[in-house]
Amino acid sequence: MKLLSAAIFLYSIAILSSWTVLGSSDFNVLDYGAIGNGKTDDSKAFLKAWNDVCGATEESPTLHVPDGKTYLLNPLKFQGPCKSKQLGGTLMAPTKDEWISDGKGQWIQFFDIEGLNLQGGGRFDGQGSLWWKDCDHKHCKRPTALFFHNCNGLQMKGMKHINSAKNHISINMCHDVIFSHLHISAPEDSPNTDGIDISESTNIFIEDSFMATGDDCIAINNGSSNININGITCGPGHGISIGSLGKDGEYNVVENVHVSNCLLRSTQNGIRIKTWEGGYGYAKNITFEKITMKNAKNPIIIDQYYSSYAYSRKMKGMDIKVSDVTYREVNGTSANEDAITFNCSQARCSNIILDNVNIKMTNPGEKAKAVCQNADGKVLSAVPPVSCLSKSH
Ligand SMILES: *[C@@H]1O[C@H](CO)[C@@H](O)[C@H](O)[C@H]1NC(C)=O
Ligand SMILES: *[C@@H]1O[C@H](CO)[C@@H](O)[C@H](O)[C@H]1NC(C)=O
Ligand SMILES: *[C@@H]1O[C@H](CO)[C@@H](O)[C@H](O)[C@H]1NC(C)=O
Ligand SMILES: *[C@@H]1O[C@H](CO)[C@@H](O)[C@H](O)[C@H]1NC(C)=O
Repeated sequence: MKLLSAAIFLYSIAILSSWTVLGSSDFNVLDYGAIGNGKTDDSKAFLKAWNDVCGATEESPTLHVPDGKTYLLNPLKFQGPCKSKQLGGTLMAPTKDEWISDGKGQWIQFFDIEGLNLQGGGRFDGQGSLWWKDCDHKHCKRPTALFFHNCNGLQMKGMKHINSAKNHISINMCHDVIFSHLHISAPEDSPNTDGIDISESTNIFIEDSFMATGDDCIAINNGSSNININGITCGPGHGISIGSLGKDGEYNVVENVHVSNCLLRSTQNGIRIKTWEGGYGYAKNITFEKITMKNAKNPIIIDQYYSSYAYSRKMKGMDIKVSDVTYREVNGTSANEDAITFNCSQARCSNIILDNVNIKMTNPGEKAKAVCQNADGKVLSAVPPVSCLSKSH
């Protein structure tokens, strides 16, 4: 697949020299009336510039957002199709009090754009603190900061994302995506501030990034396959998760996930698969490799009782089936004694493999253990010993 060479540039001083190269087809938001004082709404100027970028005939037109300014943007949708495309300074969301809608939906949306390329050293500031404060329960409406829908060939590199009201980045129905060198952060106690959420997407690479949030660093949700996660430092946060799957009796599937070379520091979970009771579908062919834990709670966990849902469909055989899950070279320390938990449903987890797993307690005086329910598989080597896996099938 040929990616259109296009980029949304969030500029920092550090990369100023590189944008001059692209200057021939540069669409500067300041030329479209953006002020960049952090107070005036610059949304209209961005949209006007976007329209021109989309219509441009040059090879790789760039939406240039000059660094050193802060642009206040109300909820905004960048819509394709677009011949070529790009964007970049600090983009700032309105605070909760200034938000024009009821908090449903998203702050900045990208729809139907092929080959979108966002890069530079700028940042997205979701200004989430008021939302978090008024929203101490998990279910109140809050906007996701960046939402990508149907953006095949999307690339995003070297950007900062801070303090989203809810998820920092969500991608839905996108294929062939590369995220790298992202820096995502929100306070440990900020509710539902996931780093990156993936759904109904395939061939996704997330690499060499830092994430410290109040919820999952990365969550891999329904309809996702061929997901590669490499070189992520996560924590605080809830770890790297598959799911939750099967909420509200839904049919959910995830397969072909490879997570490698990650460090999880003081996270509430390490590498986790979580499913609801009452849903159905599967999570299969998932490998966690070369993972280091530092004081993580629940370093290795499959939890099929994430939450239960009394659904009429909940009957025998309707279950999320978890299979072919490998943990290889997973080392480090656990903050609680259940270092390894395989709590599977009656459908059973099958072909769980532990190879060179070594997890000790953070407190050297304590002893880590493994617990299993309805789990089958093979242990090549594991500390703590996992004698609870049954060897059948
Ligand atoms: C989950 O994803 C699968 C495969 O893409 C799809 O068939 C199914 O409808 C999705 N489930 C829900 C509840 O959206
Ligand atoms: C399992 O997933 C990996 C990607 O993580 C893929 O390369 C491999 O082909 C998959 N195996 C099967 C049997 O689908
Ligand atoms: C885990 O420990 C083993 C044995 O000490 C070592 O070979 C491996 O490199 C370690 N892996 C990680 C990810 O630290
Ligand atoms: C599995 O989860 C259920 C529901 O949370 C709990 O009652 C049970 O003790 C757990 N079993 C194991 C082995 O952790």
